[in-house]
Amino acid sequence: MKGLILSGGRGTRLRPITFTSAKQLVPVANRPVLFYGIQAMAEAGIDEVGIIIAPETGEEIRAAAGDGSDFGVRITYIVQDEPAGLAHAVLTAEPFLGVDPFVMYLGDNLLQGGITELVEAFRTGSPDALILLTPVPDPEHYGVAELNDGRVTRLQEKPAEPKTDLALVGVYMFTPGIHEAARAISPSARGELEITDAIQWLVDQDRRVEPHVVRGWWKDTGRLEDMLEANRLVLDTIERRVQGELTDSQVEGRVVIEPGAVLERSTVRGPAIVGAGARLVDAYVGPYTAVGAGCRVERAEVEHSILLEGSSVRDLPARMESSLLGRDVAIRRSLGQPRAFRFLVGDRSEIGIV
Ligand code: DAU
Repeated sequence: MKGLILSGGRGTRLRPITFTSAKQLVPVANRPVLFYGIQAMAEAGIDEVGIIIAPETGEEIRAAAGDGSDFGVRITYIVQDEPAGLAHAVLTAEPFLGVDPFVMYLGDNLLQGGITELVEAFRTGSPDALILLTPVPDPEHYGVAELNDGRVTRLQEKPAEPKTDLALVGVYMFTPGIHEAARAISPSARGELEITDAIQWLVDQDRRVEPHVVRGWWKDTGRLEDMLEANRLVLDTIERRVQGELTDSQVEGRVVIEPGAVLERSTVRGPAIVGAGARLVDAYVGPYTAVGAGCRVERAEVEHSILLEGSSVRDLPARMESSLLGRDVAIRRSLGQPRAFRFLVGDRSEIGIV
């Protein structure tokens, strides 16, 4: 069995972060989202993994995941010329996949508990496809499934009026019949070859599509609030490990302080992670915060936020929360006269001030 991770696409909903970086590399608890998918494959015993990349962000993804040896898998990179849809990505990967059954994992998805049990269920039951479903409050943003007597009857991609609240989770298991299905369908209204339509084609052909309702949590990290939520869920599972250098500082609860981080007169209240080489001075870092490598938090309070590497937050008169800072972002109080806000902000940034 092979693995296919989809790490192409555009990432428009996470701009401006994704102007300069692939959305699958935005970190959750200081690890790129993509790494959780690769790790899930490795844990399920899948050692041949293809990663779909886009021409624009592919190099960065190659540099981050390498040949896969850090995860114990062999990675083959497959360039998809344009983001023409998930089923198009499958067709692009056909030479790599051959006639093998495979697990397809969307590179911006996070699934608690991995995929080992599901791969087992797929191997034992040998259906033509296995899909994962979970109830969500906003099904119109996802592929939506209708079931009858436990059988899949209809799948629709982002319907304006969903018939159920069962969303398609971004992890699928397929036999090679999916290639035939992907060739048989036409592009959707948004111009993409939808995997949802390809699976519907299998249903229409009376192939066996087995639904599995996911028990743990699942997150599609496409939007800011989803990123923060994913960060919260993963930080909730970390184990305490304090390796940095602490001076007059407190570290409370489940906190990871990476080697080389320095805390002076600061408090970190878990669950939280402070990356290697970060520096906190007279700072408070509250629950559900991931401070990236080399960040600085000085005379400021930060909570429920993600700071990508090299960013700094200094001298804030109020606590910063529910924020996502890109790489090397600097936020500080402007002290010069006249007393004014001074911004240098990229396209599509959002700033909330008190
Ligand atoms: O997250 C689950 C949802 O994922 C499902 O409920 C939907 O049925 C499914 O269509 C998909 O919807 P999204 O609109 O969220 O897909 P997105 O465009 O975000 O792409 C998902 C991943 O696949 C992402 O890592 C980018 C990558 N991708 C996307 C496209 C369109 C590619 O590698 N190539 C592509 O052509």
